[in-house]
Amino acid sequence: MIDQIKELIAEAEAFKAQTKEEVEAYRIKLLGQKGIVKQYFAEFKNVANDQKKEFGQVINTLKKTAEEKINTLKSELEQKEEVSQSNLDVSRPGEPISLGARHPISIVKNQIIDIFSRIGFNVSEGPEVEDDWHNFTALNLPEYHPARDMQDTFFIQTNPDILLRTHTSSVQVRYMENNKPPIRTISPGRVYRNEAISARSHCFFHQLEGLYIDKDVSFADLKQTLQYFTTELFGKSKIRLRPSYFPFTEPSAEIDVYWGLETETDYKITKGTGWLEIGGCGMVDPNVLKNCGIDAEDYSGFAFGVGIDRIAMLLYQIGDIRLLSENDVRFLEQFKSAL
Ligand code: PHE
Repeated sequence: MIDQIKELIAEAEAFKAQTKEEVEAYRIKLLGQKGIVKQYFAEFKNVANDQKKEFGQVINTLKKTAEEKINTLKSELEQKEEVSQSNLDVSRPGEPISLGARHPISIVKNQIIDIFSRIGFNVSEGPEVEDDWHNFTALNLPEYHPARDMQDTFFIQTNPDILLRTHTSSVQVRYMENNKPPIRTISPGRVYRNEAISARSHCFFHQLEGLYIDKDVSFADLKQTLQYFTTELFGKSKIRLRPSYFPFTEPSAEIDVYWGLETETDYKITKGTGWLEIGGCGMVDPNVLKNCGIDAEDYSGFAFGVGIDRIAMLLYQIGDIRLLSENDVRFLEQFKSAL
């Protein structure tokens, strides 16, 4: 009898079924009320005492093997059924995942960061809500200085000392206060000015300012750095530095890039001159260095600032600055293939 049971165990192990009905029939045959296992259990009392132990063991093994087999077959068949019921076509190609697009401001910002990181500049950031010292006073713009009017400022009404930064030069002040030269840093960020909103100007926009302070830094270093920058970003190496005025730099200059006059757009964006203004620059005024705790006898440096929005508009031929902050998906989607 024990051998018979062992055969049944082997059979249970090898058992295969195509349908749930086959599994059920097998279950009834083996484990049902009048099934084989029950019958063997009933035989137990007739088994010789010295065989009782082995008999018990094999019959239990048979029961367990059959149960496990039935359960696995059942769930396998159920799964198959589910798949065929839902008409799932496993050979169908997957749905494309709809990817977002990076904002043009971020694309240009990252490009510029990449260009400057190649010549050893790091990135520094600071608060958009600033105090008077970091935005004005430390930058050689004491109270009542007429040049404060150059940048129409949003003040926080209850406290005239707190304002929305008008440029990221404030970050450079913070950086100089907390770091010793040599300093090579660029500060990208959003800035605010109380200006009428139009296609060409907005009350907030983005700047990227650079600062380099070391021993014997000269105006030639500034020009070379800017030339490297415009060549990398625009593929244009001809630049012009036009004398200008900023309270925090002396001498100061406006940065013009020679864009050329090849197409009609070139005429339009350069107003027929071929030259395009992209920002301001200059040698850091010794007073600013002193205000930030840097020895102006030992160190000198240059600074520059460019508008990220303007550059993005230029590179992507965007005609209205307001598009950059309206978050219209029809506009934003167009940058999907960009970096
Ligand atoms: N902070 C100036 C501005 O916002 C730009 C600038 C930066 C000019 C650094 C010179 C040097 O207009």
